[in-house]
Amino acid sequence: ELCTGVHGLPKVLLRESRGSSAEVYLYGGQVTSWKNDHGEELLFVSSKAIFKPPKAIRGGIPICFPQFANHGSLEQHGFARNRFWKIDNDPAPLPTNSTSKAYVDLIFKPSDEDLKIWPHSFEFRLRVALGPGGDLMLTSRIRNTDAKPFTFTFAYHTYFSVSDISEVRVEGLETLDYLDNLQNKERFTEQGDALTFESEVDKVYLSTPTKIAILDHEKKRTFVIRKDGLPDAVVWNPWDKKAKAMADFGDDEYKHMLCVEPASIEKPITLKPGEEWRGRQELSAVPSSYCSGQ
Ligand code: BG6
Repeated sequence: ELCTGVHGLPKVLLRESRGSSAEVYLYGGQVTSWKNDHGEELLFVSSKAIFKPPKAIRGGIPICFPQFANHGSLEQHGFARNRFWKIDNDPAPLPTNSTSKAYVDLIFKPSDEDLKIWPHSFEFRLRVALGPGGDLMLTSRIRNTDAKPFTFTFAYHTYFSVSDISEVRVEGLETLDYLDNLQNKERFTEQGDALTFESEVDKVYLSTPTKIAILDHEKKRTFVIRKDGLPDAVVWNPWDKKAKAMADFGDDEYKHMLCVEPASIEKPITLKPGEEWRGRQELSAVPSSYCSGQ
C-alpha cells in the first residue's frame, strides 16, 4: 500500500496478517517503522528527524552505500540514503520469503548527477519483507551494470528502540577485534562479557557471527539480528555530548536507542561487470522469557 508520509514523502505500508507492520520511505529506501503484533514500535526514529531531502532521515534503517561513514571520498555514509528509490514492479524472483505476501521491492539506479560523484553504473534492489512471525527481513542485491569493476562498503544502519541504554546488553561480539572510530579507527580486542553501555560508543566489530542479540531487560525483549554476506557489525550510541551536537536528534534520546549495523567495511566488496552481491539482515523481537527461561 503506497501512501503519503511526513512532508508528502511517499511511503509503503506493509501489514502482516497477525498484526505486525512496517513502513518504508521511497526516500532513502528507508524503513522508518517496524511494529510487532501488539502495535509496539521496535525501531527508533528521532522526534527531531528531518523528513526533507537532502537530509537523511534520523532513525529506522538507513542504507549506507556505496560508502560507510567516511571510509572514502564520498559524503558521509554514501548517497543511497538521500536519494529517491522506486518501486520495482518487475523484480527478479527471490527464493526466500515465498510464504510472505507482506513485502515490497525497491530499486535504486544512479542518476547522471550521481554518476558524476561516483562513476559506476549499478542496479540496487532492496526487498523489505515481514515474515509470518513479524520478523523484518531486508535483502539487498547490488549488480554491476558497468563495463569496469567497482568497489564499495555497505551497512544497514539499524536504529533499535530500547527502554534504557544503561540496562541493555549485546551478546555475540565479546572477544572480537574492532576498529574504534573514537580512536582513529585503531584496532582493539573486546574483552570479557556481553557489551554494556555507559558512554559514547562507535566501533566496527570485525568478522562477527551471523547472529547477534540485543537484550533489553526493562522491556523484557530481545532483538535477534541474523545476517548474511555482512561480516562486520557497527555499534553506535552518540551519548549526551554528541546527541546535543546533532540538530536532528533530541538531547536525551540517546537513552532510548542503540545502533547495531550489519556491515561490510573492513574488506570492501568488489564487483566485476555483470556480477551481483547480496547482503541480508533479518530482525526478530522476542519476549526475553522465551530466550532465557526467566
Ligand atoms: C555510525 C557511525 O554508523 O553512524 C558514526 O559509526 C556516525 O561515526 C553515525 O556518527 C551517524 O552518522 P550520521 O551521518 O547519520 O550522523
